[in-house]
Amino acid sequence: MPARGNANPTGLRRRYEHHNKGSLLSIQNILFVALVVLGLIYYRVSVYLLQGGSTAAKGTVHNHRPLDTQYIHELQEQGLLLPSKTLNTYQEWRDYATQLASLTPEKIVKTLKLLDPFGVRTFEAKLLEAESEKKAFLTQEELRSIFPCPTSSTTQQQEQQQQQRITLPDQRNSDKGRAFRNGTEPNFLFFQHLRKAGGTNFCSLAQHNLPKKQVPKYYCMPDYYWEAPGRPCAGCFSRFDTKTITKHMKEDGHKILGNEWDAFDPDHYFDLPATFATSFRRPLDRALSQFRFECIEDRGCKIKNVTKWWDKRSKDLTNVYVWTFSNEGVRKLSIGTTKADSERRQKVLGRALDVVARFNLVMAMEWLAYAPNHVQRVLGFRDTKTLTERVRPHIAQHKRDDGQERNVMGAAGIAKASWTPENYLPPETYTRMSHDLALDEILTDAARRMFLERLVCDDVSMFD
Ligand SMILES: *[C@@H]1O[C@H](CO)[C@@H](O)[C@H](O)[C@H]1NC(C)=O
Ligand SMILES: *[C@@H]1O[C@H](CO)[C@@H](O)[C@H](O)[C@H]1NC(C)=O
Repeated sequence: MPARGNANPTGLRRRYEHHNKGSLLSIQNILFVALVVLGLIYYRVSVYLLQGGSTAAKGTVHNHRPLDTQYIHELQEQGLLLPSKTLNTYQEWRDYATQLASLTPEKIVKTLKLLDPFGVRTFEAKLLEAESEKKAFLTQEELRSIFPCPTSSTTQQQEQQQQQRITLPDQRNSDKGRAFRNGTEPNFLFFQHLRKAGGTNFCSLAQHNLPKKQVPKYYCMPDYYWEAPGRPCAGCFSRFDTKTITKHMKEDGHKILGNEWDAFDPDHYFDLPATFATSFRRPLDRALSQFRFECIEDRGCKIKNVTKWWDKRSKDLTNVYVWTFSNEGVRKLSIGTTKADSERRQKVLGRALDVVARFNLVMAMEWLAYAPNHVQRVLGFRDTKTLTERVRPHIAQHKRDDGQERNVMGAAGIAKASWTPENYLPPETYTRMSHDLALDEILTDAARRMFLERLVCDDVSMFD
């Protein structure tokens, strides 16, 4: 007998030789392979049908749903909220998001975690896995294989209404976007800067792409140089009306404005001759990063106990994103338990979402490395290397990943894992902060989906 495997070096042969000393082409073998193939086809078709017959390829995550109906039933019994149907337009996504906001914070957090209605959490897990395996960023094609554009323009039928897109119909003002790109006076770039969510990085992106004199030297905050009544402050634009802002921007020749400390005033700011951009980060990560930056690294805060810090700061940091984009007080309605509070939550979340949907550029800080083409199309910026400079920690463990300028603590304090909210926060504090940020979790998931759709869908670039 010849040495095993020499005659036919395939793994298949080697594996089955064991059980079957006869020819590889025996009836049993052929039947076995046929059964396996049929089984696989059956499985794929079942998954396809259970996903509502969408054309999403294997492993894609548009409307992630656990397939086990018993499980879904149990979650619904617990009061979690699953979309009752496929969500196809902005209005349908908005209706679902606001219904979700009416639940208690605990149920909101649970629904997002267990059901991932926006599909972005499943995407994130798959992205981490793929990047770790490849030890590098993915290509656009690889990204699309995880999250393909939820439009199927291959057949007539699908073009009609099966779009599953939160970004359609597009609500951005593309005229203003174009006017900024082509240098029309006095158009400028309005950046709504959420603290510790990639804003400094964005300012340096602007510095790399605009003539020096067009970028305010002080952290992209032009009002540092303006005469203003009241408190001395930079990045605080609620002090000015739109006429004054426009006049100053024009006179000083500045082309970027970073509003960091005040909420975005949707009733007035959209009248500015500006294109609008912002960057989101996962809410608990952002909050913890702020604590670390201000308190642990000693920038004006002395509290070293994160529970005590949140006791104090929850007054102004509860759902800080929703506050920022709705320009309405949110603390009371966020923690309130009455029916009226629940209704107010729906209103304020809907208002914030409407504002974000009108922003020309909505980014997710964690995924900036995939934004260069999108940023180039929307802002006309060609030098996008600042977006890819930051290396994600699972790709290169030793680099710091939170967009903070400088490591002042030495290696000891920097082990990334110890700064993830799950690891760093005491369990009760983690729960409390999650609940205080529940509306922000909805808004962030929705914003991340907008960002992703615009990254992978070619048919929206006409609105950029
Ligand atoms: C720049 O864009 C604006 C807005 O679309 C347009 O009205 C204007 O004609 C453009 N100007 C140039 C020089 O292309
Ligand atoms: C932090 O503060 C909380 C609440 O005041 C307290 O219960 C906890 O023991 C403190 N943690 C540490 C490590 O001191």
